[in-house]
Amino acid sequence: MVVDKALFRAAAGSFASGVTVITSGFEGSYHGITASAFTSLSLEPTQVLVCINRDTRALTVIKACGCFCVNILDSSQEALSRVFASRDAPQRDGLEGIEFAVGNLGVPVLSAALAFFESRVVQEYDGGDHVIMVGEVERVGVAQEGEPLLYFRGGYRQLSRKGPVAAPQIDGLFSSGWRREALTPWGGLPD
Ligand SMILES: Cc1cc2nc3c(=O)[nH]c(=O)nc-3n(C[C@H](O)[C@H](O)[C@H](O)COP(=O)(O)O)c2cc1C
Repeated sequence: MVVDKALFRAAAGSFASGVTVITSGFEGSYHGITASAFTSLSLEPTQVLVCINRDTRALTVIKACGCFCVNILDSSQEALSRVFASRDAPQRDGLEGIEFAVGNLGVPVLSAALAFFESRVVQEYDGGDHVIMVGEVERVGVAQEGEPLLYFRGGYRQLSRKGPVAAPQIDGLFSSGWRREALTPWGGLPD
């Protein structure tokens, strides 16, 4: 059965995630991409994985460099996330005007990130229209304080106990077994 792509996106977007900027490049030719497809993979050895769209410039830069840094964004860094998700933001070339330090592997580490993982690419796997890149982590940093930037159903969020977030209005969203009336007022399913 062919799955409707809009429905697939809506379902996948219901998985709330943190937001990262994956930086790469060398000697001033830096690049970064906003990415939520990040997972800490292995403790022994320390590895992470990220999934990068085949059409991105980021993939070309990471492949050429062989290293990347996953910067987990703080709730104050939504504007930064928007910059690195935009195809034509001029700041992305060389990270112009963006605060960073060059890490041990020569890749940029963003200032004020909640945490970072400096990684060397050790494996690449086919992931359909994405490439799954496994990185061996050589250095990490964690901020003492801070709250994460979150992404849910196409919008930025912050940790909160506040109410529900409506699903996007897409025809057929509730057509595959999930009935509108089965949802409780807070958006979950009844017991
Ligand atoms: C919250 C959020 C998460 C994203 N996650 C990913 C991701 O995991 N992988 C990816 O390839 N693109 C992801 N994107 C899209 C890229 O950031 C976007 O396509 C970017 O413009 C690519 O730029 P480039 O081609 O200059 O490298 C995400 C965008 C947003 C807003």
